[in-house]
Amino acid sequence: MVVATTADGVAAVSARIGDHPVEVVAPSAARRLVRAAVDDEWEAERLVATLRGDGHMAVARPSEGVRLDAWMRHTRPLTFGDRLAVCFAWSEHDRAGLPTVIELGLGGFGNGDHPATKLLVELLLERIAGGERVLDVGCGSGVLGLCAIALGASRVVAVDIKAEAMEATRRNAALNGMDDRVETCASLSELDGAFDVVVANIGRAAIVDLAPQLARSVSARGWLAISGISASQCSQIVEFLHPLVELEQRTDGEWSAVVLGHSTLAAAV
Ligand SMILES: C[S@@+](CC[C@H](N)C(=O)[O-])C[C@H]1O[C@@H](n2cnc3c(N)ncnc32)[C@H](O)[C@@H]1O
Repeated sequence: MVVATTADGVAAVSARIGDHPVEVVAPSAARRLVRAAVDDEWEAERLVATLRGDGHMAVARPSEGVRLDAWMRHTRPLTFGDRLAVCFAWSEHDRAGLPTVIELGLGGFGNGDHPATKLLVELLLERIAGGERVLDVGCGSGVLGLCAIALGASRVVAVDIKAEAMEATRRNAALNGMDDRVETCASLSELDGAFDVVVANIGRAAIVDLAPQLARSVSARGWLAISGISASQCSQIVEFLHPLVELEQRTDGEWSAVVLGHSTLAAAV
């Protein structure tokens, strides 16, 4: 098992782990990972649960063989261009040389590796100019909103139907020192005003359900990027988002994303 903590947290975590031999790894200047060799899987699970109960980011980690190889591959940081990387807090890979890293902790959906998420991160990379107010609909882990802030957005409102997703987003915002710029909200209908950027990786059915609210939430010069859909669904979904019009479409394998804005913006492009 492994626990992601800071230099100040190592002693408390090690004490909680007790008699099991521990090793401390420092994948970055701020992050410390306390790795414990626990042979008995039940004991490892018990320890993980106890440490999580104390508020620590503890995860079960295979100790060897193909399972460890798979785990190492799964926890490798993802890089987006030369400006952004996303990784789990417990990633053991050395982060020296990586661009700005967004760390993700426990819970919430989305670690950046799904094509539907990647398409939106890439759009944020290309389109965020700085200072934008962002609405992240279906925030999951909060990954898209946190990437937007790392790229220069000023504030994020993160919405999800799952309480667990909003909790994970708040924890991840704090983990990255962004909690003063991220607020969560249970429903789009509770929100007033328009946003410069709206991202929604929520799939066809939820986009169609929320279409009027999504369209209303985009400011005059703002843009909306939807994802989690197939290429064949794009044109039909765009119609639901009237009066917004399509500005751009991207596809990665079976997944597509569409960027929309007001027609005045489309005419100016
Ligand atoms: C595919 S995940 C995307 C997570 C993250 N934004 C990403 O891109 O990796 C979809 C998220 O949308 C949320 N969701 C689904 N329907 C929703 C709705 N109608 N309103 C708000 N959130 C919704 C789910 O709970 C889930 O957390």
